[in-house]
Order: sequence, then structure tokens, then C-alpha cells
Amino acid sequence: MEVKYNVGSLLITLPTRIDAKNAAAFEKELFAVEQLHDAEEILLDAKNLAYISSLGLRVILKLAKKIKTTPTLMVNASNEVYNVFDVTGMTSFIKVLRKRRSVNLTSTKLLAFGMFGSVYRVNEEQILKVFHDLTTERKIQEIVDTMRIAFTHDIPTVIPFEVVVTEKGFGILLELLNAEVLSTLMHDNPKDFDRHVIEMVKLAKTLADTEFEEYLLKNRNDFMTEVVESAAEYLTPEEISVLKSYVDLVPRRNSGVHGDLHARNIMITDGKPFLIDMDEFGCGHPVWDIAGTHLIYQMIPHFPEEIFRKQTGLEGISLADFCLKMIRFTVDEADICWEKFFNEYFNDYSAREKNYILQAVKFYSRFKLIIFSIARCHVEKNNSTRLAMQVDVIRYYLKEMQAFDIGKLIKAFEVWK
Ligand SMILES: Nc1ncnc2c1ncn2[C@@H]1O[C@H](COP(=O)(O)OP(=O)(O)OP(=O)(O)O)[C@@H](O)[C@H]1O
Ligand SMILES: [Mg+2]
Repeated sequence: MEVKYNVGSLLITLPTRIDAKNAAAFEKELFAVEQLHDAEEILLDAKNLAYISSLGLRVILKLAKKIKTTPTLMVNASNEVYNVFDVTGMTSFIKVLRKRRSVNLTSTKLLAFGMFGSVYRVNEEQILKVFHDLTTERKIQEIVDTMRIAFTHDIPTVIPFEVVVTEKGFGILLELLNAEVLSTLMHDNPKDFDRHVIEMVKLAKTLADTEFEEYLLKNRNDFMTEVVESAAEYLTPEEISVLKSYVDLVPRRNSGVHGDLHARNIMITDGKPFLIDMDEFGCGHPVWDIAGTHLIYQMIPHFPEEIFRKQTGLEGISLADFCLKMIRFTVDEADICWEKFFNEYFNDYSAREKNYILQAVKFYSRFKLIIFSIARCHVEKNNSTRLAMQVDVIRYYLKEMQAFDIGKLIKAFEVWK
């Protein structure tokens, strides 16, 4: 047995056999591991495990039941080992994942290179999204599980085939769409612009109208609270508590929330829209998605110069060019898109109600930018200049948020159907 401990994660490599001969010794060794109870996650690596008897299974069961706060995950199981866990019902206590297939990137074609991942074309049916190293195997598997839940609740999205391993880390094999990205279609075909905005609204409403069972998906309110709490090393306790109180103002709902809803994350094939980039899919109040759309089409294109430089860390590119690159829209197109999107989405609300709702959307779009900057803080943690720039951005928007009328936000949630 080999043990590695790294930032809250305990990786235990299981021996080649666990049977009558060594089960007792294995149990003793396992429970003597110092960090066993404090680890945020326990990962059992079964890459060497060729055989496990019922005595061995009992030790694993004891571990899974004892360490309830940290769900145990076993990876790299051979088909034989997987079957033993499956037929004994052990898979209800511990999630067992088969050995990952490996995919060689040299035989693929790079389609897109983003901040958090890259997308490769593997063959005529599949693409591969590889995540840059901050993401753990468990998180990637969670994205696949979430995509399956979205898919079976009729959210128009692609098939998530499996998690695979590549020379650049873990990735997800996904169904390839022979499709155009919606933002490109909109930018290139101005006469169809309005029609395409209506497609976006339909997708946003499909998400809002789809209910998920509470236990299936992470609620965005909980996600936001966790991210805010993770910023304790950069912000003051007061700032953290104010941000948390803003999350608590959002009523808990179980609608589908994409997490990054804009025309670059929608593809159209044979006239049918598909949602891609489901990494942040969850459930919650639709304000989280509408505020995200506002962030992309209204906040970013109208960033004050200083905030733009600090938030992106970029020099030598104008905001207009940045928009074209990131959003694939000119600033005018972004303005028109937002205007039409908002009016179409809230078509059956009165002007007064729409005004309240717009306040809430503007408020939470600032909040989402703060969340994004917190993620950037983690990335820039070891670079004090860049870290300070992100903290400045957070404080700038926090100050703006504090000037909002909370009464109007509460009203917005009362009228939001
Ligand atoms: N299922 C798919 N079929 C075909 N192409 C795809 C598919 N999914 C993604 N792509 C292509 O890869 C690009 C990036 O995908 P995605 O949005 O999932 O990644 P990302 O890391 O979030 O990138 P970005 O930051 O650019 O949004 C898309 O714009 C699209 O061109
Ligand atoms: Mg994307």
C-alpha cells in the first residue's frame, strides 16, 4: 500500500492482492494513516489490484462507511475488480471507476484552446476536452455525471462518452457536432441575428422550465457560497460575510442552470441548438444564468479601462478586439444581443417588474464577475502583483453592489415567476 497526501486529497494505491493472507494487516495499515479522517477526499487507486476477496471487500466497506464526510472513490479498477464490486452491491457505498482508456493527442486535431481547457477532434464522431491541470480526476468525472443527468432530463446537449487519460491530463470524450458556434453564425449573418437571439431565449427558458431533483445536482447557491468561502485568504471576514449574504438573497430553486450561458457555448446543427461547455452545469434560480449572460454582453464589453487591464492582465489589446476574440461580437452586437435577449425573455412581464428584475440581474452579474475573479486569485496565488489586481477588481465591484437598493432585489425575486 502506498499513500500520498496532497491539498486535502489522500491517494492510496492498493496492493496487488487483498485476501485472507493480508486483509488484517492491510486494515491495520489503512486505518493507521494519519490524514485518513481529515482528508477532503479519499481516492483509492486500484491500478495494481488484480484480486480482492470478501475479506478485502469488508475492509473497503468499513472505510467507506466510517469516512462518511468524504465519499470514497476508487479509480483504475480492472473489469474483473469492477465486477466484484458491482455484484456484491459495494458500488452503492463506494464509487468505482474502471481503468481509464488512454488517448494519444498526437493523432488528434486541436480545435480550440481556452483558459481552462483545450478541445481536440479525435475522429468523425468524437471530440476530446482536456482540462488544464487544476482539475482533479474526481471533478472531471463529476462533470460527466452532471452531463448525463442534464441529458436524461432532456436538456439539448451532447453525449458524454467517458473520461480518458491523455499525455496532457484527463479529458472527456464527447459527441462531435457537425455544427457552427452560434456567436459566429450571428456575427456572420446579421439578417438572422434576431432569429438567433430567440433561439438563445428558448434555450434559456428550457433550462429555467426544467426541474431537477434536489439531490441530483449541486445548487448554484451552495456553489457560490463555497467559492466565496474559498476566498478567505484574499478578502476580509466582513467582505466574505457580505458576499455570502448576497447569495442567501437568491431564492432556492431547482431549475437547470448552465453556468456560462452565451452564444459561444451554443452550437447549431440542422437548425437545432445544442448547449456545449457544460462544466458548470447545476441547478438553482435562473437569475444565475441570466446574470451570466449580462456579464458577457454588458459588463465585459463596457469594462472601465483600468478594470479591463486588471481583470484580464492583458496589455496591448483593445477592449473592442478582446470582445471580438472572446465573445465573437462587436460591442454594438453585444449591446443589441443583450437588449433583445432580455426583452424577449421577460416579454410577459410589466415594465415595472422588468425594472426590478434588471436590477437583480445587474447585481448578480457583478457578483458573478467577483466569483470569476476569485477563481483567478487561486490561479495567481503565487504572483502577488497579479493577485492584488484581482482583489482590486473584487473590491471595485463589491463597492458597486453595496450601492444597490436591496429592497428592489427582493421585489425582483417576488415578481420573478
Ligand atoms: N461537441 C462539440 N462538437 C464540435 N465542436 C465542439 C464541441 N464542443 C466544443 N467544440 C468546439 O470547441 C470550442 C470550445 O469548447 P468549450 O466552450 O466547451 O471549451 P472552453 O474551454 O470553455 O472554451 P472557451 O473558453 O473558448 O469557451 C467550441 O467553441 C467549439 O468550437
Ligand atoms: Mg466555452
